[in-house]
Amino acid sequence: SKTLRVAVIPGDGIGTEVMPWGVKCLQATAKVFNIAIEFEHFDFASCEYYQKHGDMMPSNWKEQLISFDAIYFGAVGMPNLVPDDVSLWGSLLKFRREFDQYVNLRPCRLMPGVKCPLAGKKPGDIDFWIVRENTEGEYSSIGGKMFEGTDREVVIQETVMSRVGVDRILRYAFELAKSRPRKRLTSATKSNGISITMPYWDGRVSEMHKSYPEINLDKYHIDILTAHFVGRPEIFDVIVGSNLFGDILSDLGPACTGTIAIAPSANINPEGKFPSLFEPVHGSAPDIVGKNLANPIGMIWAGQMLLQHFGYIEAADALLKAIERILERSEASVLTPDMGGTGTTQALGEAIEREILSLAGN
Ligand code: NAD
Ligand code: IPM
Ligand code: MN
Repeated sequence: SKTLRVAVIPGDGIGTEVMPWGVKCLQATAKVFNIAIEFEHFDFASCEYYQKHGDMMPSNWKEQLISFDAIYFGAVGMPNLVPDDVSLWGSLLKFRREFDQYVNLRPCRLMPGVKCPLAGKKPGDIDFWIVRENTEGEYSSIGGKMFEGTDREVVIQETVMSRVGVDRILRYAFELAKSRPRKRLTSATKSNGISITMPYWDGRVSEMHKSYPEINLDKYHIDILTAHFVGRPEIFDVIVGSNLFGDILSDLGPACTGTIAIAPSANINPEGKFPSLFEPVHGSAPDIVGKNLANPIGMIWAGQMLLQHFGYIEAADALLKAIERILERSEASVLTPDMGGTGTTQALGEAIEREILSLAGN
């Protein structure tokens, strides 16, 4: 079988601390399951690079990355050094848009051994997928400023929804829902208040539902939907939403499962025309940087999604199982503080790596 070529971009802050464990766990899994993966490291897409070069990435970044099968990405952002909109629009958001990674797939699952902040929930009660539109919507560069610096100042940023853009993310979500036992799809909008784009999205959902009669479809306004995340998360199976709504739901969902730091994310170009990008949902966490406290599971689980994406199902299942087993044991000295433990990035990363290797009796 062919060699999987992965571009490794640690980025900033704890991105650089969790990435080594992501790579080690992927390497361990690759070893056990005989998968050929080749990693190449890049130092661009970081605020340090920006400080040296005045830009987040070299002008030929696309040529450098386009031939890779996947990008394994840590996190970007050091707001004390570079404004967030500059660092993110100069890196991650460029990847998503230029590589047409229009699906942002984010699982949300209550894991064994992780204390749930919602009363009475056990593993299995919270287990859903967020399908986030990832190239348009509220994240648009269309807009501008008028009368800057005067008391008549106006700023405008338009929401963009194209028929192609909405339909392709909805189709992905309907197909995913179809593959799941419960076949339930929830669409998040805000059509009472945002009266042009959101009703348009709703209309496309209704239209597409006609070709998926077997799907149990729910539509919620985003405000009450967030309340249901907390009140009755077990009703959800697949949730689809616009770029901004998907972003917000994918921090709220994992927070409801005990910690945002375990949540992974796959930014997918389903046609495979461009590399897809795998990253944790969390950011660079400047508040805990350099303390060896960062939970590496979001990064490691993102590697699991990478394996899954390329069809290495047995290996992906095993890596997820290894994460679950380590969490289930709930050893305080291994779990990081965000999960109530006293462990370190290294202790948790090593435990998962060892668990994977033990599968092959290594
Ligand atoms: P954040 O996710 O970086 O941090 C939020 C909180 O969660 C912090 O208290 C942090 O310590 C904690 N946290 C996050 N990841 C953790 C981990 N692995 N282990 C333990 N605790 C963890 O979000 P923020 O504070 O809003 O953003 C910080 C910077 O990261 C900003 O520059 C922001 O733009 C950027 N950011 C980048 C990405 C990305 O690259 N994908 C995502 C979100 C935020
Ligand atoms: C995420 C992040 C990014 C987003 C930021 C850093 C631009 O929050 O991946 O969820 O909003 O998409
Ligand atoms: Mn986010």
